[in-house]
Amino acid sequence: MKSITAGLVLGVLTAGTAGAEDLSPIERLGKSVFFDTNLSARGNQACASCHDPAAGFTSPLAEFNGAGAVVEGSVPGRFGNRKPPSMAYAAFSPVLHHIDDDGVTLVGGAFLDGRATGKKLGSATADQAQGPFLNPVEMGLPHAACVVARVLDPADPSAYPVAFTDVWGPDAAVEIPPAITDLCGDPDAKIEISDEALAAKIDEDFDRIAIAIAAFEQTDEVNPFTSRFDAWRAGTGTLSEQELRGFEVFEAEGKGNCAACHVLTPTGREERAVFTDWTFDNLGVPRNRDNPQGPDYVDPGLGAFLRTDPVYAAYAEDVMGAQQVPTLRNLDKRLSPDAPKAYMHNGYFKTLEGVVHFYNTRDVLPRCADPLASEAEAMAAGCWPEPEIGATMNKDELGDLKLTAAEEADLVAFLKTLDDE
Ligand code: HEC
Ligand code: HEC
Repeated sequence: MKSITAGLVLGVLTAGTAGAEDLSPIERLGKSVFFDTNLSARGNQACASCHDPAAGFTSPLAEFNGAGAVVEGSVPGRFGNRKPPSMAYAAFSPVLHHIDDDGVTLVGGAFLDGRATGKKLGSATADQAQGPFLNPVEMGLPHAACVVARVLDPADPSAYPVAFTDVWGPDAAVEIPPAITDLCGDPDAKIEISDEALAAKIDEDFDRIAIAIAAFEQTDEVNPFTSRFDAWRAGTGTLSEQELRGFEVFEAEGKGNCAACHVLTPTGREERAVFTDWTFDNLGVPRNRDNPQGPDYVDPGLGAFLRTDPVYAAYAEDVMGAQQVPTLRNLDKRLSPDAPKAYMHNGYFKTLEGVVHFYNTRDVLPRCADPLASEAEAMAAGCWPEPEIGATMNKDELGDLKLTAAEEADLVAFLKTLDDE
């Protein structure tokens, strides 16, 4: 494993106050939780560390984005296997379900493989929000009791203008014995709570914390719809000639066909384009040789999750390597003009030019001799490395779009109009 020093600088947590007065009490509480670095084993990582508003709610950390794209957890040296996707607009994803078309198409859920289904708390993002706190390669707290204790008794009470009990009432307070809280700094501590009443209260409060985060994730502050594209659609702004041409390429079935999956029509609770239909696809993205799990790491995506599901297990093989269609908003939003960004589940792509060229020519250009060639190397050599998983790759809607170089450039220009201002 490559050793990378943690770049988890507290300074990146730019919890803006703008608009905060517009939040309801539960949304304000969720926001405080989202930005609280104390809710991690080493007190150095918040949700916002990997989902920074200034970077479009993705990772702001240049040293990771520029390479393996997986962000180090609270404990140095511990890594997961995926790039942090944008958390913005994710709250519009419906509870995981399926539609019957030619076969079975899965829709919704959170995480790139949909495994936070939303069936527990009625919201995919609420289910999702319970994951990172206790994930040993992310925030790394050893038990939900630690999250509850630290939210009830924040390290910095001024960061919680609305307290947990302001929202959920005084009865939501729970005394968690020091024998438990003393272990919270140890990500590997085994904590079992034998007192059933206490365990039930902790579970209930942990659910309430997730519901508060999900409430924040539904606010205009996270989903502002303030891009130049929105202004143009609303008739209050303009796009350049090139951007308008790019939009045509994006929409047209015989051109980019992007809107087939990154849809322009609402598919759920949203009223404006979120640019995803919440389905899953394997695009044949090459391996990222800098993945902390090793250069040969292959992401099984939705298929691996379905294998574990009693209802959908039979469909798992067909969707190995499929990832959820992400929003395309804020793709180009970064901390500074030269700050690196990473695209796709494994962050293989660093540029929108590369992404668009890949959609256009994946099945036209020769295979690179080096299966681990980087995006820059492949672009320079005029080839593409083999996909992580070839068998289930979508060959119907992408790979040979026959776009000209000018159309590719127009499309990239259009994608850059989707950043919230
Ligand atoms: C160490 C970095 C890290 C931290 C900390 C972190 N996340 Fe994430 N987040 C990720 C990664 C990586 C994924 C994708 C994981 C996957 O699909 O398996 C993700 C996925 C998500 C998604 C799903 C987006 C989608 O398109 O499905 C949401 C929502 C989200 N995170 C919110 C949060 C919240 C809320 C917290 C704090 C409780 C948090 N994250 C903490 C890295 C992080
Ligand atoms: C068949 C469905 C489908 C079509 C058509 C499609 N996409 Fe995607 N797109 C996806 C999926 C699925 C992902 C995530 C794949 C992954 O992470 O491996 C994705 C990811 C992306 C990303 C990376 C986003 C991020 O945050 O990492 C960009 C940019 C993108 N698509 C742009 C486009 C453009 C431009 C077009 C048209 C040329 C297009 N897509 C056509 C399904 C599609």
